[in-house]
Amino acid sequence: MTDHLVLFMPSGKRGRFPTDTPVLDAARQLGVHVESVCGGRGICGRCQVDVQEGVFAKHGITSSKEHISPFGGNEVRYAEKRDLKAGRRLSCSAKILGDLVIDIPQDAVVNAQVVRKDSDGRVIERNPAIHMCYVEVEEPDMHKPLGDLDRLLMAIEADWGFKGLAIDAYLYGQVQQILRKGDWKVTAAVHEPVDGGAATLVALYPGLKNEAYGVACDIGSTTIAMHLSSLLSGRTLASSGTSNPQIRFGEDLMSRVSYVMMNPEGREGMTIAVREAINGLIDKVCKEGEIDRGDILDAVFVGNPIMHHLFLGIDPTELGGAPFALAVSGAVNVKSSEIDIPLNPGARVYMLPCIAGHVGADAAAATLTEGPHRQDEMMLLVDVGTNAEIVLGNSARTVAASSPTGPAFEGAEISCGQRAAPGAIERIRIDPETLEPRYRVIGIEPWSDEPGFDEAAKKVGVTGVCGSGIIEIIAEMYLAGIITEDGVINGDLAARSPRITGNGRTFSYLLRDGEQRLMVTQTDVRAIQLAKAALYAGVKLLMDKQGIDHVDRIGLAGAFGSFIDPKYALVLGLVPDCDLEKVKAVGNAAGTGARMALLNRSHRREIEQTVTRIEKIETALESKFQEHFVNAMAFPNKVDAFPRLTE
Ligand code: FES
Repeated sequence: MTDHLVLFMPSGKRGRFPTDTPVLDAARQLGVHVESVCGGRGICGRCQVDVQEGVFAKHGITSSKEHISPFGGNEVRYAEKRDLKAGRRLSCSAKILGDLVIDIPQDAVVNAQVVRKDSDGRVIERNPAIHMCYVEVEEPDMHKPLGDLDRLLMAIEADWGFKGLAIDAYLYGQVQQILRKGDWKVTAAVHEPVDGGAATLVALYPGLKNEAYGVACDIGSTTIAMHLSSLLSGRTLASSGTSNPQIRFGEDLMSRVSYVMMNPEGREGMTIAVREAINGLIDKVCKEGEIDRGDILDAVFVGNPIMHHLFLGIDPTELGGAPFALAVSGAVNVKSSEIDIPLNPGARVYMLPCIAGHVGADAAAATLTEGPHRQDEMMLLVDVGTNAEIVLGNSARTVAASSPTGPAFEGAEISCGQRAAPGAIERIRIDPETLEPRYRVIGIEPWSDEPGFDEAAKKVGVTGVCGSGIIEIIAEMYLAGIITEDGVINGDLAARSPRITGNGRTFSYLLRDGEQRLMVTQTDVRAIQLAKAALYAGVKLLMDKQGIDHVDRIGLAGAFGSFIDPKYALVLGLVPDCDLEKVKAVGNAAGTGARMALLNRSHRREIEQTVTRIEKIETALESKFQEHFVNAMAFPNKVDAFPRLTE
């Protein structure tokens, strides 16, 4: 029998196959995983492919639609009932007759070869932990006294290869009814664990169930963000966020731990609060995505260690002091019903592993997203909150630590600081000659010195400076000579500009006059110095561990990292010297990592293995921390040079 060359795009995998081989079989033999819910019966339409036409000289193939079996049988039946786009073929029906170039469209691929670009432009490969398996089960026979469930399991094993399936107990009472309702045709949802252990039948639907959904959630101490995705196509159906209601128990992480220590009901109250907020978010994304929350079969959560513990109902008291012991550091797999997150009764919840007592599942997720462990370049990944979580590494070695930056970077402890919201100054420039500022305010388009600003400011108000704005103003004050290298506001300038005002023995800078005076005081500058020195000292310790004096690439994660201008981060010495081109905001890397783990279970294995290899450094135990801290109090640093800043 003649062999034909078949090339699958965009993976580039190729092989030779005899005439009449179904395209789906060829794909599977090459490890090109094409989606299939119905197991090749021509019902689900998930296995669609496109046949390319033309001469592909580079690959030595001439592909033609004549080289594939004519449209017929299952495909005609499918096209009559559903929408089959022109040119699309069902790969389970179409057979190879000649050389072919087959394109796997993004909405039809399960994993590795083709991947999906998400809303942030990131490519996420798909290989979810949930498989939707359509089967046709033998009807009962008096001569074969096998139970309905047993025959169902046999059909799943025969068609889908899942041996020794475990079964969620709730299904025992439902299986007979579902089989009969589906006229012995059912779709089984099978959860396949990361570790290669036995898979579990977690849900059963009458007939063909051609969709399954999952949520990925980043539980921040301030904000909770959630995405609803199709597990089969990878498409994000809805995204939403809400404030973490635990704020009413304590603004920052340590105050929430203290609340638990002081109040016997404290832990429970905060667990209930965060779960309620998450349940509210699930309702919201389901409404927006127009799906039933019962169709959600998988959920992935990430968060810092204290959020992680409180969400799981674990007392975080041990995380409040040395040795900062986690109750559990490995990945957590539970049923959603066990943690009061009602989804499908068989839905699973996966939490990424924590790296250390102060470096949580959110840092693990950010690591998964940015992949320092996959690169040759030495990458620094920083997520700044009340604690900065820091990961530094490359494919050879990765180290991690957290640094107690405090809330200054979030605008707390700063006299004019506020959350990033309309009315907050976010961008500032200071004229080094006149010392006059110009600024831009969230919710107001023109800069402060442009037409239309005053009018808009009356409506929106100018109420404070957000975290990224504070970094800019301190950096601009330093660049304009208002602040010395040691962080002292130069009182001599009061003679030159009315914006420098004395208050006792120290001076302040008047940013905005009017109804609400916005000042940058010496105390504000000190707070930023302390925060940035803690961050830099943590980074520097990790650089010591790696034996390096510069990093190749820096990723600034989280809300703070997204808005900060990398130039100002270097001017102030928040992070070490680096090619400015290679200092990037990486957005909500933790949330993206959660989505990656949701859509591809091999990412779960990857991060679990990576976390065991990350060396954890406890900054409090390192004698050099203090020395690095003191040096880092200066702008940008007492001893470390920043040559790339002046290049
Ligand atoms: Fe379901 Fe081809 S696998 S239609």
